[in-house]
Amino acid sequence: MEFINRPYAPLDGFRAANLINVDDFPEAETNYVLDLAEYYARFLNAGQRPPARLAGKTQINLFFEDSTRTNLSFELAGRRLGADVLNVPVAASSVNKGETLVDTAQTLAAMGAHALIVRHKEPRVHDEIARRISCPVINAGDGVREHPTQALLDAATIRSVYGSVKGLVIAICGDIKHSRVAASNAALLTRLGAEVRFVGPSHLMPTPHLFTKARRFDSLAAGISGADIVMALRMQFERMEEGGKDAAKGYFETFGLTHETIKAAKPTAKVMHPGPMNRGVEIDGALADDPDRSLILKQVFYGVATRMAVLDALITKGSAF
Ligand code: NCD
Repeated sequence: MEFINRPYAPLDGFRAANLINVDDFPEAETNYVLDLAEYYARFLNAGQRPPARLAGKTQINLFFEDSTRTNLSFELAGRRLGADVLNVPVAASSVNKGETLVDTAQTLAAMGAHALIVRHKEPRVHDEIARRISCPVINAGDGVREHPTQALLDAATIRSVYGSVKGLVIAICGDIKHSRVAASNAALLTRLGAEVRFVGPSHLMPTPHLFTKARRFDSLAAGISGADIVMALRMQFERMEEGGKDAAKGYFETFGLTHETIKAAKPTAKVMHPGPMNRGVEIDGALADDPDRSLILKQVFYGVATRMAVLDALITKGSAF
């Protein structure tokens, strides 16, 4: 409670204008946002309303790909801070009348948006939009490239359990090739001092010149040996070429996470998953539901707190409470 009542220290000049890549937030900005996420998590945990830092501000969500948790999590985050939150009904919008994405974004900015949250399968559209509008652009997922708020919320979740990310061994398992979550996490968690490993069959690994700092393993037992965190990923069939369904054949038998296979990691190891998960494909339901081992719902909880912190930081530029 004492922490809740203590206004969070401002950052002297939050330098980032947008959050398109995890590296858009340098070290000071990253630490500020992770601390602020913890600050907001305490309000949410206590069932208390945080200060209405974004009262009078407008947040617009523009999602061109399916989403449940990310879209709702951003919506709730803005509302918890008092912002007016609008969701563009993309399927029924004038984007379908031939308008370019940049024109749509400029229209929303002209309506008075203070932040634009964009999910789109084309990498780089976020950069193009950010060049053309003056309010912050937050990337809510762009094809296979980046999903920075997911990486930040994963870091916030890990910090809430271990106190720090530094020195931890984090094994990311499964369809790494098609995962923007793996990409953003590999960049951020390595920067925060973790040893990040990629574990999975070779056809689900990214090309070798990418993520050179992450050691690669094609054996689950070897890859998670000594791991503090084992992160499972969904098979992202929608991003695979023809015949992608074969990617899951025999996967659970060789790489599926269960109470049995996780024994190769540290006895205290925790399991994470960005969701949506496919039970019995990459992870056994009993392990995913085990409160002693699974951080999956904690990740969802920290998703709201972290997005509150990101919105606050980008819109108020780290100003004092
Ligand atoms: C992920 C995504 O959309 O990239 N989900 C999420 O945001 N929680 C992962 C996925 O789709 O598998």
